[in-house]
Amino acid sequence: MIKKNSRIFVAGHKGLVGSAILRKLKEKGYSKILTVEKSKLDLTDQKKVHNFLKKNKPHFIFIAAAKVGGIFSNNKYKADFIYNNLSIQLNIIDSAHKCGIKNLIFLGSSCVYPRECKQPIKESYLLNGKLEKTNDAYAIAKIAGIKMCESYNEQYKTNYKCLMPTNTYGPNDNYDDLNSHFIPALIKKIHRLKVKNSLNLKIWGDGSPMREVIYVDDLADACVFFMNKKTNENLINIGTGIDYSIKDYAKIISKIILPSKKINIVFDKTKPNGTPRKVMDISIAKKYGWKPKSVFKKSIIETYNSFLKEVND
Ligand SMILES: NC(=O)c1ccc[n+]([C@@H]2O[C@H](COP(=O)([O-])OP(=O)(O)OC[C@H]3O[C@@H](n4cnc5c(N)ncnc54)[C@H](OP(=O)(O)O)[C@@H]3O)[C@@H](O)[C@H]2O)c1
Repeated sequence: MIKKNSRIFVAGHKGLVGSAILRKLKEKGYSKILTVEKSKLDLTDQKKVHNFLKKNKPHFIFIAAAKVGGIFSNNKYKADFIYNNLSIQLNIIDSAHKCGIKNLIFLGSSCVYPRECKQPIKESYLLNGKLEKTNDAYAIAKIAGIKMCESYNEQYKTNYKCLMPTNTYGPNDNYDDLNSHFIPALIKKIHRLKVKNSLNLKIWGDGSPMREVIYVDDLADACVFFMNKKTNENLINIGTGIDYSIKDYAKIISKIILPSKKINIVFDKTKPNGTPRKVMDISIAKKYGWKPKSVFKKSIIETYNSFLKEVND
């Protein structure tokens, strides 16, 4: 159980998820939060990571540092994805154990489940089938992290949990044209329509694929909740358990960004749809009393407001 004066290390505190965990911890009144700039501590450097943990001895670690990206970069920079992710998690998890740090949360991802997974996705489906080819290097690294936590728990009686978030959005997201996930990509595209005074929103595929998303504040809430919770399971899905079509997301976000306009959605059917449906079974998380609290429209408004600040910075 995290005490108000426990030392807590948030790795990757400037990213989408890490910054939300930091906000959540501050909101809950935890006072001894450790963060370190990437320029001062490159987490792929084993010796430096070990020295940092030995010196600072946090009681709890959240690993929100990772190399993360969309389909394009996952596919094009596989070596960077596998090397960076394996190194970061290997260094933090092993040094945490060697420094006697018993509590840690590692983040996996819904996209490391097999490509042709039965829906909704249960935790037990991990390694049940072939991975999606475009992100297999990233997925193998994440699965290694999951197995590492499991193995250290078994052998060394540590409490290293893996949360498996679905597609996440919120403040501090990545809006890079080639590298972003679909919610930030939609926000940016619709914002551009507003700037250009255009009404034609072009989206890939026919808009029918069903996707689940989670607001980053809910994910951060789950991270703190499960750090404080004794669980029998080591792997826990974090999502909403509810999915909507890409077309529905496009309509809702358009109404928020361009409230008085009637958007014309143009479907580029020459582009692939991807998996028809992707949604998590979150019954294990619910069994322990956790559920998401955010309302989609309100969360998109908050995300859009922070996008406007980020693009103006
Ligand atoms: N975003 C999603 O939709 C999603 C969904 C499921 C799971 N997740 C998981 O959640 C975790 C966090 O993702 P995110 O979306 O918050 O990613 P993010 O916004 O890219 O944040 C990752 C953070 O890690 C830092 N980092 C990367 N390499 C580092 C290194 N060698 N040393 C120190 N810091 C380093 C990054 O710093 P720089 O920016 O300076 O490189 C960045 O601040 C990841 O494990 C990811 O797999 C995310």
